[in-house]
Amino acid sequence: MAFDLRRFLPSFSVAAALAVFALAAATAHSQAPAATDIAHRHLNAHDVLFHDDGRYVGPGSCSAVACHGGIEPRSVTRVLQNEYSTWVTRDKHARAYTSLTTPLGEQIARTLQLGPAEQAQRCLVCHALDVPASQQARKFDLADGVSCESCHGPASRWIGPHLQANAQHAQMVSLGLYDNRNLVLRTERCLSCHLGAPGLSVDHELIAAGHPDLRFELDSFTAVEPPHWVEKSADGQPLNDPLFGTRAWAIGQAVELRVSMQRLVRDARSGPWPEFSEMDCISCHHSLTGPLSWRQRAGYPGHRAGDPPYNLSHYVLFQHIANEVDPAINNELNQAATRVAHLVTSMSPDRPDVIAAAEHAADLAAKLSTELQSASYDRARTERLLRAISADADAISQDGERTAEQATMTLDALYIADANAGARNPETRAAIDGLYKLVNNPSAYNAPQFAAQLRRVHQTLH
Ligand code: HEC
Ligand code: HEC
Ligand code: HEC
Ligand code: HEC
Repeated sequence: MAFDLRRFLPSFSVAAALAVFALAAATAHSQAPAATDIAHRHLNAHDVLFHDDGRYVGPGSCSAVACHGGIEPRSVTRVLQNEYSTWVTRDKHARAYTSLTTPLGEQIARTLQLGPAEQAQRCLVCHALDVPASQQARKFDLADGVSCESCHGPASRWIGPHLQANAQHAQMVSLGLYDNRNLVLRTERCLSCHLGAPGLSVDHELIAAGHPDLRFELDSFTAVEPPHWVEKSADGQPLNDPLFGTRAWAIGQAVELRVSMQRLVRDARSGPWPEFSEMDCISCHHSLTGPLSWRQRAGYPGHRAGDPPYNLSHYVLFQHIANEVDPAINNELNQAATRVAHLVTSMSPDRPDVIAAAEHAADLAAKLSTELQSASYDRARTERLLRAISADADAISQDGERTAEQATMTLDALYIADANAGARNPETRAAIDGLYKLVNNPSAYNAPQFAAQLRRVHQTLH
């Protein structure tokens, strides 16, 4: 089955190993863009990935051994200098174009009658650095896949200046370097391909044709990528923060909620409606095990029996940190998110109502992401979140398989952060691995079993 989380399992040991840069306390490190700027930035595909702010030079320009193509990381320079080698040998982004030419890639394109996938714009927007010739400073190959400038922005204006010993990050940003040190902007960048943006979309049609379903959690996906960098503060100092994972999770969740609401607004404005990929997939795609399956026993709380629930996984976990940093806004957000879910779940809502509710939720999520950037993330907070989330077993498990997946990645991210800070506990580790097993086969998802395993996680936390 295409939506399978097992592949994450082995990679998490890599996450733990990589996060050993650990010692000092958290530093508030990203300057926050104003909430309203973020929420109202309605981008199109061109703005999202292909800024006019400079031209693209291609990854070959970064690959020299003396630049970013070293084999071993260096410690005497400002950056590791083996970024290219990490990307080309270990990062799936380097193979994103090649995936289009696999039997699965071609099969998807055939079903959708797109012609060869590797020539279809609908695929290339996310699987390659597909920029118009006028924006290429030199010729480069689509086959390089998702490459340096897909994330770092067009380099023609900063590639020269960034070689200077006194190059300042802020100055490079003014020359078109995308500010990935800012976690709000970084998550937005990842999500443009991993959740969708105007012109970049994996909808139910693509999924039914065979495309893997999209899911994301910043800290987990960063660990799997794997990172080719050391995390730094806005002024360029290495963060050395064992609890960076808690920060990345919290800010990532806020941005993911906002971006998912913005996607809902786009779908409600135009496009097929209701869009099935907005719903909890497994409410439709499970096998019929009745009479009296766990769904029937639970009695479909919160909606009419048989309606497929909206996928609220972007809020259900996030509310725990939202409630800590700003209970008043979280209260409002809770109402807005519940209203969105209620409307969409009814299957035939008035589109303007959905748009209004989702825009309100997006604004509130944007405010929270600003507050979360200046919040502090210590061990006490991480452990409070671990306990609160694992104690919320019934609500999380009943909300559906997508929420169970987010809960699994969330507890894993928070546990790894806490373990980095010294709180290693093999029993918690094993109990979280047990959660992964329960979402490995989404169609077999069973809420009571997942709730029981969440309680086991909770019992291991003292
Ligand atoms: C330009 C689009 C784009 C951007 C931006 C992007 N990705 Fe991806 N990502 C992809 C595509 C396409 C794939 C699938 C690659 C393949 O063909 O296997 C992928 C795959 C991945 C995978 C592998 C998942 C797996 O199944 O093993 C991880 C992890 C990942 N991305 C993390 C990130 C992170 C973290 C960011 C932001 C820092 C990010 N991505 C930004 C397009 C993108
Ligand atoms: C919105 C961005 C987006 C679009 C558009 C898109 N993809 Fe993807 N694709 C991804 C991401 C992200 C992944 C990785 C998903 C993951 O593992 O979490 C992926 C994974 C895949 C994979 C699986 C790769 C692997 O090794 O597991 C194939 C095949 C694929 N895409 C083909 C296509 C085709 C064909 C099209 C066009 C019809 C297309 N994609 C359009 C983002 C996109
Ligand atoms: C999927 C997105 C993605 C791709 C592809 C990518 N990077 Fe990165 N890169 C990041 C993120 C996120 C960071 C961490 C934030 C930061 O330091 O800017 C980063 C950090 C870096 C850093 C450290 C910057 C610093 O000031 O410490 C360098 C150097 C770098 N990348 C070079 C490259 C090169 C060269 C390539 C291509 C071979 C590449 N990156 C491809 C996302 C990406
Ligand atoms: C409202 C019900 C509904 C929801 C929600 C839904 N689907 Fe579907 N799905 C369908 C229907 C109907 C088909 C077409 C079945 C057919 O033609 O036999 C389908 C087809 C598919 C197929 C191809 C079927 C096959 O035999 O392989 C896949 C894969 C799929 N959906 C995945 C998903 C994923 C992933 C999600 C969530 C992101 C999702 N679906 C959400 C109803 C739904």
